Amino acid sequence: MKVKQEVRELFPTPLWVLDIAAADAAALNAKLKAEIERLIAPRPNVPPGSNWQTPHDLHTRPEFAEFTQLVEVAGRSVAQFLQLEQYPMMITGCWANINPPGSYHPTHNHPNNYLSGVYYVDVSDGAPELVFQDPRPISIMPWSGKLNRVTANAAAEQAIPGRMMIFPSWLRHHVPSNHGVNERISISFNLMFKNFAETAAAPRWKATAGSSSG
Ligand SMILES: [Fe+2]
Repeated sequence: MKVKQEVRELFPTPLWVLDIAAADAAALNAKLKAEIERLIAPRPNVPPGSNWQTPHDLHTRPEFAEFTQLVEVAGRSVAQFLQLEQYPMMITGCWANINPPGSYHPTHNHPNNYLSGVYYVDVSDGAPELVFQDPRPISIMPWSGKLNRVTANAAAEQAIPGRMMIFPSWLRHHVPSNHGVNERISISFNLMFKNFAETAAAPRWKATAGSSSG
């Protein structure tokens, strides 16, 4: 008996990975790092294991205009992929994260947003990747030693300088402990449909820095 088998992947979870060419990324990252350093000076005493975040309004600051433009262009290309370009999105928050050795970021998602993303400014060897959790409601994982993208319940994506990742805001993720000897600097951002963000759920961040919680 002849049987034809096909696999249809239902409800895939997209992760957009955008890598800036190395030379361009080096120039951009040097500028971003200098601006972030300026923002956090004088350096606060960050307790071991915790992270530091800048205010969430970087996208409103002229010195981050080049980065903001990059996020807007990336957001539009994702909207085009999703065939949602007729609904303009806006950045609802944009902030830098300083992750010293030993720090980690627990599992979370980004409510009241449609897309979230991160861009890596400074990542040294040994710094952790970003780990996404399986959004399916239950996992049954017989340990075969051969997990693949259908059977695994987590997926890690490498954090490298010049890399931007964009993902659905509902997708839970975490950053494992930084086992490197150097701190890691990244910039996170959220995107939401403009009319929703302006009416139903205006961003609640205030322009203050502090230890991270989300
Ligand atoms: Fe996040």
